[in-house]
Amino acid sequence: MKVYAMYFSPTGGTKKVMDILTESLDVSGEIDLSLPEVDYSAYSFEDGDVCLVGVPSFGGRVPETALVHIRAMHVGRAAAIPVIVYGNRAYDDTMLELKNELVSCGFKVPAAVAAVAEHSIMHQFGAGRPDYEDQQELRAYSIKIKALITRIQAGDPEAFNTIDVPGNEPYREYNGVPFKPKAGKDCTHCGLCAAKCPVQAIPAQQPESVDEKLCISCMRCVAICPAHARSLNKLVLTAASAKMKKACSTRKANELFI
Ligand SMILES: Cc1cc2nc3c(=O)[nH]c(=O)nc-3n(C[C@H](O)[C@H](O)[C@H](O)COP(=O)(O)O)c2cc1C
Repeated sequence: MKVYAMYFSPTGGTKKVMDILTESLDVSGEIDLSLPEVDYSAYSFEDGDVCLVGVPSFGGRVPETALVHIRAMHVGRAAAIPVIVYGNRAYDDTMLELKNELVSCGFKVPAAVAAVAEHSIMHQFGAGRPDYEDQQELRAYSIKIKALITRIQAGDPEAFNTIDVPGNEPYREYNGVPFKPKAGKDCTHCGLCAAKCPVQAIPAQQPESVDEKLCISCMRCVAICPAHARSLNKLVLTAASAKMKKACSTRKANELFI
């Protein structure tokens, strides 16, 4: 009976939340859901295993790339705890969608977490989060999750029940965002962005470009470029930020469902 930390974290905010939540847990393995070369069907979970599954909210939904990899895995009588990380707007149907997908894979879902991290496109929203206050709160959640895991692993059937989580069906429609990062003159053709793109949207031979049909606007290439050469169209970004300001400005709370 093992505990796993599974995450899709293009720019590291989801991973930060996962690291705090798993600090007090005895994690046997981490599964990065952003690696296109990995055969995720090789992963299987056994009775009593518990997986914390961290994803960012993209447009109030679960990034499809993460779902494709999770669906490939093999699940016994294992439990999963969705961890939804969002950029201080809203997570809409992300938690319900992930819960439903995990249940379809065979997991029981006895708890879930929503947490705020800095917005990976509009960094002024949720700036610096998870901050000190968030960290304290997430640590308190971690202790409660640890107690739940102890009960699951002791065979307590009540601890293994799937809970209700917020969200609506049909899920919020999401067709991507109009932000496709491109490289400017500072691009050194090092190829790091092409190697690390979760959906292989950047051609290795021409890393200053991007296949807009494949790109999911996850912002990893912008975050990792050592020359800071990749960016978004500033006019589009400024206009979108102004539109989002009202919805994103008041501090949103973290939540634990257990
Ligand atoms: C394409 C895209 C869509 C997003 N949509 C939302 C959203 O609907 N609501 C929200 O609060 N944050 C949204 N965000 C912000 C991310 O959920 C947030 O920054 C998250 O921490 C990113 O995770 P990561 O740092 O692990 O990549 C979006 C970010 C991206 C890149």
